[in-house]
Amino acid sequence: MLSPARRLLKMIHPEGILWPGTAFYDAISRSAIFQRNYELVAEDIVSYCPEGSLLDIGTGPGRLLIVLHRKSPRLRLVGVDSSGSMVTKARRNLVRAGLSHAIDIEVGNASFLPFHGESFDVVVSTGSIHHWKEPEKGLNEVYRVLRRKGVALMYDLVSDTPQYVLEEVARDFGKLESVLLRIHALEEPFYTSKDFELLARGTLFKRGYTKFVGVQCCLVLRK
Ligand SMILES: C[S@@+](CC[C@H](N)C(=O)[O-])C[C@H]1O[C@@H](n2cnc3c(N)ncnc32)[C@H](O)[C@@H]1O
Repeated sequence: MLSPARRLLKMIHPEGILWPGTAFYDAISRSAIFQRNYELVAEDIVSYCPEGSLLDIGTGPGRLLIVLHRKSPRLRLVGVDSSGSMVTKARRNLVRAGLSHAIDIEVGNASFLPFHGESFDVVVSTGSIHHWKEPEKGLNEVYRVLRRKGVALMYDLVSDTPQYVLEEVARDFGKLESVLLRIHALEEPFYTSKDFELLARGTLFKRGYTKFVGVQCCLVLRK
């Protein structure tokens, strides 16, 4: 269960990122620490599903999809984000990367995914689920749009990032990044890794398990 303080934080925290937050997020998502994170996450995703169709929920500026396309061009990539302003940024990033023909990005909310049932082999999400106002409903939507035996990989920062992960961040990016990560964990309504894993219980997935991929905790769910 979320602590009362985190529950309050979750209530007041906005669901989608709106302008001018979109411009700020788009800018920081170009930084080395974000790019390394997209690389690690993309490698992990491709190890589950090197081809087929993939949906990224809360795709933000679309940078994970760009890295995924470069790693595995046989994946059919679709992204959704509840923020129209973020979708505009993501589409502009696709044009700049010369990939607007290869990747489709639309406005869509995790609670009401605009797709038919059993449309995707894998559904992913990075840094978004702590924003969702209805996480169980969103995960049930993930279940609905996944094909039989499909996998969902939900990556997010957690409030209890293990010491060894913080030490890796400090080693690779400097002490400042590691301190910023700790501060960020206080002011965003992140789950603890245990609460993140328990989220699956109230959904059609019934259970899942967590693991760390770089700085992010990944909840692995199978249909
Ligand atoms: C912190 S950003 C992460 C963006 C991107 N996945 C990344 O890793 O760079 C979270 C994104 O989730 C989107 N978002 C929040 N709640 C959402 C929801 N219920 N459905 C779809 N997108 C959502 C926000 O608009 C924002 O773009």
